[in-house]
Formats: sequence, structure tokens, C-alpha cells
Amino acid sequence: YGVLVRIAVIGCGYLGAVHAACMADLGHDVVGVDLDPGRIAALAAGRAPFHEPGFPELLGRALSSGRLTFTTDLEEAARVRVFFLCVGTPQLPGSNAADLSFVDDAVRSVAALVAASGRTAVVVGKSTVPVGTAARLAPLVEAVGATLIWNPEFLREGYAVRDTLTPNRIVYGLPDGEDGAAAQEILDDVYADQLRRQIPRLTTDYATAELVKVAANSFLATKISFINAMAEICELTGADVTQLAGAIGMDDRIGKKFLQAGIGFGGGCLPKDIRAFTARAEELGAHESVGFLREVDKINLRRRDRVVDLAKQVLGERLVGARVAVLGAAFKPHSDDLRDSPAVDIATRLQGLGADVVVTDPAALPLLARLHPALSQAEQAEDALRDADLVVLATEWREYVVMDPYDAAELVRTPVVIDGRNVLNPARWRRAGWTYLGLGRP
Ligand code: UDX
Repeated sequence: YGVLVRIAVIGCGYLGAVHAACMADLGHDVVGVDLDPGRIAALAAGRAPFHEPGFPELLGRALSSGRLTFTTDLEEAARVRVFFLCVGTPQLPGSNAADLSFVDDAVRSVAALVAASGRTAVVVGKSTVPVGTAARLAPLVEAVGATLIWNPEFLREGYAVRDTLTPNRIVYGLPDGEDGAAAQEILDDVYADQLRRQIPRLTTDYATAELVKVAANSFLATKISFINAMAEICELTGADVTQLAGAIGMDDRIGKKFLQAGIGFGGGCLPKDIRAFTARAEELGAHESVGFLREVDKINLRRRDRVVDLAKQVLGERLVGARVAVLGAAFKPHSDDLRDSPAVDIATRLQGLGADVVVTDPAALPLLARLHPALSQAEQAEDALRDADLVVLATEWREYVVMDPYDAAELVRTPVVIDGRNVLNPARWRRAGWTYLGLGRP
């Protein structure tokens, strides 16, 4: 006998829009609130503002059930019991720290609304924030008789719906005492479906909950940079990092996942989160505790340099004016997200060196045209490959991974490929006449 909860989701970006639709899918009444009228109009019309498998269907279903609405007017959330804060915490320009102004503004507006309504409410922070933020914001929430819970979100782009409906774990950062217990009960109603399915729910203090998120992302980023550092050693010794990763991954204390060496991590989360964590740790006087994270960031960025260097090596003087096909623009497959995308960075740098770069991507071209209009693009991989002097596989979309090297060789001018994700079979590509260059592979 689940309780249907009236919910508002403040901030309808990636996290918020998916969260709102998923909560409505679970049967709750949800209003999504965002300041951007274009985004709200799109969502209300059932148009997903980003590429995410399964999301358009879920959004359509939730809208037609009548349980999901969207608005730019927070007042429409006046009768809500639970407010989820899903606003962004981007990297501050010129700094490593996170910009918390959206979180702060959202908390203030919600507190004012709750004060005016005089109802019991729970404010649930989902945004990724520096440790200490919840403790700083809690008094603002408590002053209006509401309770703050910090409930970090671990969703991966490309699997956002699945990760929201079936997360590995749910973490509540709670205040001590009766208020915390009452708020927890209300949030348990929201997640009743997940709890019924035995998804582990951990209750912690605020600081631990905030740290679970940044520690998890730091660990993942470290794992990727670890294997990319090994790729650098492999490059100097003739070893093969893909075999190395396979072999160390068989030890289940290490595990196979997140050991894919290549051009490194990007996106809206890992790079900014490790930088914000470093900045916060420095504020706390723990400069040394996060020294390794500064290295993780540097190793990650060096892999992009490596691709540019390989292009220079292989093309030499001919780089100026050479046609370079970049396969993939998104920071990873199944996404059209270009934030901190290694693919875009590499394409832009090669163009800056005088190459005639053409980028293709199955999902991200509309966004690429808007955000990086100087990069030429091709709808189809074949058009990008035509007359290329160099091919750079930058995002491992399936269609690039399964490409026939013989067909591809017929299209290009010079069959040279840099496999930025180590997803092609070097022997096959070489047999088809290609000069194959992997990262950390002989
Ligand atoms: C990440 C975390 O996985 C997620 O839990 C958190 O909530 C948000 O940040 P996401 O940014 O969607 O999710 O992508 P993820 O799948 O983690 O990949 C991040 C980047 O690492 C991508 O650029 C990907 O290409 C790269 N990567 C991943 C590697 O280079 N090698 C790997 O082995 C794995």
C-alpha cells in the first residue's frame, strides 16, 4: 500500500528531467520546475532535450498518465511534500571549485515557498556538492519547519532511466533526531518501489552522503587514469595495455570494469567532480590527501595530447591541410553530451594545427553545430571517411567499432587510423592495409 507523494523536481536538466519522469512512472504526482522556458516547453510537449535511451518513451508515458507536469513557475509547487533539488553545480570559470549559486538559489526559493504554505515538507538534495554544503544549507530549510536530506544520485548517462529506477544503492544523508526520522519516512514513501525490491538504502550523516558521491566518482576516474598511465608505460616498452587490463582485471579485487584505456574520461561529471573535490579538500587543509587526484586529471588530459602527437608523427608536415575524420563527438556512446568531451578537444586541436577536420557522430551533431560551429561535420561516417588522410576513432559508438576495415580503406585517401578507444582489432585492420595506431598498444 504505497503512499503517493506530491513531488517537485527543481532543475530539469539531465538529472532532474530523468528523475521527474521516473518518479511519475512510480506513481507519484510530479511537477518539474526549471527557469529555462525552452526546456520546459520541450519537456511538456514530450520532447527530450537530450539523447538518452528509453527516456522519450518514459516521458511520453508519464505525461499521458497526467502525473507529470512541467512549469517555470515554482508557485505551482506550493502543495508539494517533497522537493528534489536537481540543479547543476558546474565548474566555476577560472577555478576548480563548483559553482553553488544554483543550489543556494533553489534552496532559498523553496524555503520561501514552504514558509508561505505552512506545510510540512522535505527538501532532498540530489545535486553533486562539495562536502559541507548540506550542513550549511540545513538551517535555511529548518527555519521554515522543513527537513533537508542529502540523497546523491549515481546515474550514468546512457543508462539514466535504469540507474534511477534500479540504482545499486540509495544513500540518505540525514540530520539527527525526530525530524530526520520523520523526513526519512516520507522519502521512503517516494522510494517504496525500490525498497520493496531490496535495493540497499544506507542512512548516514550529511557529510558522509556528500562524500559517497565524490569518492565514488574519484575512484572511477582514478581507475581510468591508472590504466591510462599503464598505457603510457606500454607505449615505451612495446607492451599491450588491453591484454594487461584483461589480465589484472581477472583478479576480482581489481575487477574488469573501468579499465578501458584510451583518450580518457570526459563528460559533465567525472572531470568537474574530481576538480571540485580537490578544491574543497584544499579548503579543508587536506591538500595532500587529494594530490593523487591532481595526477588523475593530468594523466587524463595527457592522453589527448598523445593523440595529437601521434597525428603529428604520422602526418608530419602534411598535417596542415590534411583531411582528418574524427569518428564520434560525444564524451561516450549512447549520449549526445559534449561537455568536456575528449573527442571535441582533439578535433579542435587538430583543426587548430591546420588540419581539415570533419567530425561525425550518430547523436551529437545538432549540439556540435550549436556549440562548436567552426568544426565541419558529416552526417554519415562514410562521408567523413571519404578522402581522409587520417581517421581518429574518438567515441566507441557501435557502428564505428563494427566498421569493415576493407570498406573503410576504399573510402579514405591514406589508410591510417588512431584507435582512441582501443576497440578495433589491430591485426584485421592491418591486414586490410591500414596503419593502425592504438593507445598503449604496439
Ligand atoms: C559518471 C559515473 O559513472 C556515474 O556514476 C556518476 O553519477 C556520473 O558520472 P557518466 O559521466 O555518465 O557517469 O559516464 P561514465 O560511464 O562513468 O564514463 C565517464 C567517462 O569515462 C567517459 O568519457 C568514458 O568514455 C570514460 N571511460 C569509462 C574510459 O575512458 N574508460 C573506461 O574504462 C570507462
